[in-house]
Amino acid sequence: MVELAGELEALEAEARQEISAAADPQALAEVRARFLGRKGSLRGLLRGIGSLPPEERARAGEAANRVKDRIEALVRERREALRREAEARSLAGHRLDVTLPGAGPAPGHLHPLTRLMRDVTRFFHGLGFSVEDGPEVETEYHNFEALNFPPDHPAWDLQDTFFVRGGHVLRTHTSPVQIRVMTGREPPFRFLALGRVYRHDSDPTHSPMFHQVEGFLVDDGVSFADLKGVLFAFARHLFGDDTGVRFRAHYFPFTEPSAEIDFSWRGAWLEVGGCGMIHPNVLRECGLDPERYQGFAFGLGLDRIAMVRHGIPHIGLLFDADQRVLEQL
Ligand code: DAH
Repeated sequence: MVELAGELEALEAEARQEISAAADPQALAEVRARFLGRKGSLRGLLRGIGSLPPEERARAGEAANRVKDRIEALVRERREALRREAEARSLAGHRLDVTLPGAGPAPGHLHPLTRLMRDVTRFFHGLGFSVEDGPEVETEYHNFEALNFPPDHPAWDLQDTFFVRGGHVLRTHTSPVQIRVMTGREPPFRFLALGRVYRHDSDPTHSPMFHQVEGFLVDDGVSFADLKGVLFAFARHLFGDDTGVRFRAHYFPFTEPSAEIDFSWRGAWLEVGGCGMIHPNVLRECGLDPERYQGFAFGLGLDRIAMVRHGIPHIGLLFDADQRVLEQL
């Protein structure tokens, strides 16, 4: 009996040590099984009990039960301690600094070109221009012939124009809207047409699809001076009061005289488009008498303006729909 008591004591001490060394619930369960399980050390010790005299057998049984209870208690304590440690670790890993400013929803915004088109539309509304629209798949007639393009003009070339079956093209400019709007109506006209146009062209400043705004005004007594006044006002609206405007003599089939237009931007000239007095042939094609009516027209590239406004080096960045770029604009 004395011998058994010593062995129980040694077993308890060993269990205590292993329990406190168990690093996780799994290891703890293994330790428990090793000491208290059906094939565990305690059972092994008790196997000898059967050979003891009956009065000692009862005491030995009690002593063994007390050891068993104490070991169970140690296991429970250790299990609880491990649970608390794990919880603390997890909390530390998910620490939340409630004093940080909130993330907040990131509201979207309009594309820079959409904003520019709205801005341009608003400005010209103020001068009495209203907006007209035309198809992007346009007839060769509206895109070229009615605009007085001679048959050998380079714009007719496959190199420059996307041709679609059946006498159609992807419009190469917004000027065909002039024909659609003027035909069958009586002046005065003050119209704006904005939208996508298409050309065989692709480099850092050219994209096969880009945007133009077309403006035209027809009435009697309209002169180039009116055109200059409108474009000066527009340039200053866009880029500020000290913006310069430069007209360079040029050729367009649908205007006479014709000019290219530059706006000054931070000390440099930026080519923004073309303009001129609407060619008599164009007015005639639309059923208007050029002796009675004159008009001016201009067509400006919007993408270039958006690029300099926002410091965008490559026109493709406007159309890639790359969030990282658009968020900065
Ligand atoms: N359509 C011309 C182009 O795309 C631009 C242009 C020039 C439009 C003169 C006009 C104009 O209305 O009068 O290159």
